[in-house]
Amino acid sequence: MIQTGTPSFEPEDEGRLSSPELLPQDSGELELSLRPKTLRDYIGQDQVKENLAVYIEAARRRGEPLDHVLLYGPPGLGKTTLSGIIAHELGVNLRVTAGPAISKAGDLAALLTNLGRGDVLFVDEIHRLPREVEEILYPAMEDRELDIIIGKGPAARSIRVDLQPFTLIGATTRAGQLTLPLRERFGIVERLELYSTEQLCDIIRRSAMLLDIPCEASGAMELAKRSRGTPRIANRLLRRVRDFADVMGSGVIDEKVTRLALERLNIDELGLDKLDLRMLDMMIRGYGGGPVGLDTLASALGEEAVTLEDVCEPYLMQLGMLARTPRGRCATALAYAHLGYKQEENGLSVGKQYSLSDMLDAESDE
Ligand code: ADE
Repeated sequence: MIQTGTPSFEPEDEGRLSSPELLPQDSGELELSLRPKTLRDYIGQDQVKENLAVYIEAARRRGEPLDHVLLYGPPGLGKTTLSGIIAHELGVNLRVTAGPAISKAGDLAALLTNLGRGDVLFVDEIHRLPREVEEILYPAMEDRELDIIIGKGPAARSIRVDLQPFTLIGATTRAGQLTLPLRERFGIVERLELYSTEQLCDIIRRSAMLLDIPCEASGAMELAKRSRGTPRIANRLLRRVRDFADVMGSGVIDEKVTRLALERLNIDELGLDKLDLRMLDMMIRGYGGGPVGLDTLASALGEEAVTLEDVCEPYLMQLGMLARTPRGRCATALAYAHLGYKQEENGLSVGKQYSLSDMLDAESDE
């Protein structure tokens, strides 16, 4: 049955395969084994790599620790992987933690005092460090000193601990949320960009080789086109497509089985999933194509604004389907075309040809 009327997309489940956010299955041993260990093996982010290679070589020649590094950009692009590479290239130890895991100043003090000379401390989601923790980080980053308060009330006293020279690598999806004093203490600031289809294709072929998965170039390319510019998604989808290839195909990842698998996973030919499509559909049918505020859109969809902002928008903007304007988000002509709507001249009303919700309704009625 084909229904018309209000969009009837269901909110997404947690842990979407096409979400760039870290899921438990991304941290398994096998997944970790896919991570390149050297800059030479790391595909993409060419300018970031070239700059880092110079800074690492300069630090090594001078026998100094690398300056503190801030890596920012959408999730799933390899910030953690790059920090591992930096430590490896410097020949030092890497300690990995995350902003929300450091709830007290003492937690950070314990981490910092255990670092050896030149070691790297990687803090993921650094924008989520509690303020009291962030404040003890300033002198640690700047002067390698830790001021620790011992005791409480009138008996409290402060002691100063000298730290070994170290490198802090902070990673964040939201550089704008860092406080200015913290941002200013990073000597090296690099933004990671979404990957091109060709780069993702190379990453998929490399992963398939390491995992011993037979994969044709056309299959890798088809998968790359639908991986939203994000290696984490590409590697995750690779495993699911392999399942379809083993059970329903010849065991080889080719274009045909990749298309079949991704159709079954509700990922369209551009890599858009149901949430992206619901978002565009809501903008077009609910708000005349925009401009519409992010929070309005989020509540209309029953999603968190940060999910739309961090997960959907970077890729929709890269595809040219969504524009951010000072007055809100707008769906572009490409979005109208992709969803099968006709855009009328004033851009506010749509002449419906067929809508995506009709298609999905039809699908769920089958
Ligand atoms: N696996 C995940 N990200 C990668 C990258 N940028 N290069 C090579 N392999 C990867």
